[in-house]
Amino acid sequence: MGPLSFSLLRILGDGKLHTIDFLAQSLKVSQSLITNTIDDIKRNGINVSTTPNACYQWLNPINWLDDNKILSYLNQANFPFHLIVLDAIDSTNRFLLNQVITAPQILQKNPVIITELQTHGRGRLGRRWYSGLGDSLTFSLLWRFDRSVQQLSGLSLAIGVAIIRALKQYGIAGLTLKWPNDVLFRFCKLAGILIELSNDNDKRTGSFVVIGIGLNIQLSSFAKENIDQAFVDLFSITGRPINRNKLLAILLSELATVLNDFNHLGFGYFRNEWIHYHAYEGKSVSITQPDGLLVEGFVDGVEYDGSITLTLENGIKRTYTSGELCLRKGK
Ligand code: BTN
Repeated sequence: MGPLSFSLLRILGDGKLHTIDFLAQSLKVSQSLITNTIDDIKRNGINVSTTPNACYQWLNPINWLDDNKILSYLNQANFPFHLIVLDAIDSTNRFLLNQVITAPQILQKNPVIITELQTHGRGRLGRRWYSGLGDSLTFSLLWRFDRSVQQLSGLSLAIGVAIIRALKQYGIAGLTLKWPNDVLFRFCKLAGILIELSNDNDKRTGSFVVIGIGLNIQLSSFAKENIDQAFVDLFSITGRPINRNKLLAILLSELATVLNDFNHLGFGYFRNEWIHYHAYEGKSVSITQPDGLLVEGFVDGVEYDGSITLTLENGIKRTYTSGELCLRKGK
């Protein structure tokens, strides 16, 4: 969807019925362009209804993200981020990684890119991350650590702790974590984290990291049809609409706290809290390793570098740094 679709949606965002004449005049374009743009909007699964006399109404409009509203929920004196809210982008992670190369001045500012519509979201292990217009929080932030890249192990686990803390503060309890970094509700995925390193790292002291977070708020049917694992969103957990601007403000301030603590203290500082939230602690699981090998055992915590420990069937403990964790049924 292009800029005109978003301009149209912002007018229709009041949920009222508007004539094609009013829409064309407001946006200073022809009525046929309005018709084509509405078709484009509908193709994207957005529920705009048309009456026989060419009036349009968005039946379930979103509450738009707004940087001023986000800031209004924050203590701005200590807020370390520079917010950039975009209508649509392929991937907020890709955008920021690209910015590091094409606009390195951005490195000074701790930018956070938030988008209403992410068209090609990236997930872990080369997967896609699906979301629809305004149905999630999809954002990435760039953070500079004084640590080397090697000293960042466990960072994605610490980010999971930040998300749980923030959601608790918003009033949502009962969330758990899944190693290495999924946020779950009753074993269904609520949020994912994708950390990517900037290529620039060897040229500077410290390391720049892009941290991308996708959090399901009230998923559209487009997203629901595409996600291929057990998922959940905040609307179905709470049964009430979620104030995305307020929640993002809480998330960002919790992330700032966790990133600063991680910078000074590493993952060890969060380790006990992380284990406390682990949905799979003590459970019988399998881990598919990156080379395809499967190991089975009982989860026995995580280490100071964020790797997971399993007690194998023969009683030996082994740690694993990456892989895909699965519950073993009937064990
Ligand atoms: C996962 O597979 O669990 C990680 C998903 C991470 C998705 C987020 S959405 C915002 C940011 N931009 C992306 O392209 N991916 C991350």
